[in-house]
Amino acid sequence: MFFQKNFYWGASTSSHQVEGNNHNDWTEWEKGVARQKSQLALARQMKGNVWPEFILKNYPSPLEEENYISGETCDHYNRFKEDFDIAKTLGHNAHRFSIEWSRIEPEEGKFDAKEIEHYREVIRALREREMEPFVTLWHWTLPLWVRDLGGWENRKTVDYFVRYCRKLAEEFKNEVTFFITLNEPSLWASNAYRTGNFPPAKKNLLVFNQVFWNLHRGHARAYRAMKEINQNFSVGITQNTGEIRSSLPLANFYYHLNTFFLKTIQDVMDFVGLDYYRGVPVGKKTHETSDLGWEIHPEGLYRVLKRLARYQKPIFILENGIADAADTKRAHYIVDHTAQISRALVEEIDVRGYFYWSLLDNFEWGDGFWPRFGLVEVDYETQGRKIRESALEYKKVIDSQKPD
Ligand code: BGC
Repeated sequence: MFFQKNFYWGASTSSHQVEGNNHNDWTEWEKGVARQKSQLALARQMKGNVWPEFILKNYPSPLEEENYISGETCDHYNRFKEDFDIAKTLGHNAHRFSIEWSRIEPEEGKFDAKEIEHYREVIRALREREMEPFVTLWHWTLPLWVRDLGGWENRKTVDYFVRYCRKLAEEFKNEVTFFITLNEPSLWASNAYRTGNFPPAKKNLLVFNQVFWNLHRGHARAYRAMKEINQNFSVGITQNTGEIRSSLPLANFYYHLNTFFLKTIQDVMDFVGLDYYRGVPVGKKTHETSDLGWEIHPEGLYRVLKRLARYQKPIFILENGIADAADTKRAHYIVDHTAQISRALVEEIDVRGYFYWSLLDNFEWGDGFWPRFGLVEVDYETQGRKIRESALEYKKVIDSQKPD
């Protein structure tokens, strides 16, 4: 393989998915949809045996209401030090996490100093373990007051978001270099305003368009505000640009949308943040799939990297992972995807880091807890952690790249 000495190896998480006890637009939404989701899952299972026994026996299973309510999730808010200890033993030298806006600014314009200190401790804990923090400022959840004012539909939210980003940039100007303003903005907007999978679940193309541009403005203005505070910040977004090899109109739509977003922010991004999970199905499934039915297609990553080289910016793969409760596919998923990165590196494509999604099993949004993405298995009844075999295989990949 062909990785540089200072290549970042790590894993990613996001606040709502791992922290526990949040109070935001998602926690409210979950309460309203959990029962219906569990009933639908039961109906699906009775019709077609969608989930194998080994998934149904894990707690919570897709058939239970608890599956769809984030609640305590992994209690990472209290256990981050022990979780970072695990990441350290797994050889990671970087870690991506997100700051929860609803904790920092629970009421309009009132920043919570205690919560800011909490995240300062998180950053310190990473630094103490020699892990570089990659900090996401918005990973899909909104404070309730922002939701009540219309969320990203409201142009004012751009101002609120920029104020929040500026505040954190001031607070952490000497402690953090890498910031991700928005996680997968166009994919989020599609789920929230086209397909109705995410709150506020409106299906309205006009509103979708408004939201798309507000997210765009949010990033561009936050970028400029943050760079004024510290020129040395490296600021970008993540985008799931996918690989296009599909005749399906929806897949093409996502491809164009995500690519378009990235193209239009070229002047206000210091790196390209890529989230890559899967190949896009071409009619009949031809590849092995994950527990979520996503096609495993490592070569697609290489092709996407080649395409992204045109931006002439450093590329970070900020998410790449698989839902695999039995842990039979994850090891080769990681080995095969990282091999595709080294293929790109040989061609001098400037990839600087790889972050597996996710360090821990966590709350997988609308699907809830049953999809198991973690390098570390979480027992949701006891909060016990267990390192999966595949995490050790990932460590071997990392170790094989370390200078002697
Ligand atoms: C999101 C994560 C999510 C993952 C797997 C990404 O699009 O950023 O929050 O868990 O996909 O679905």
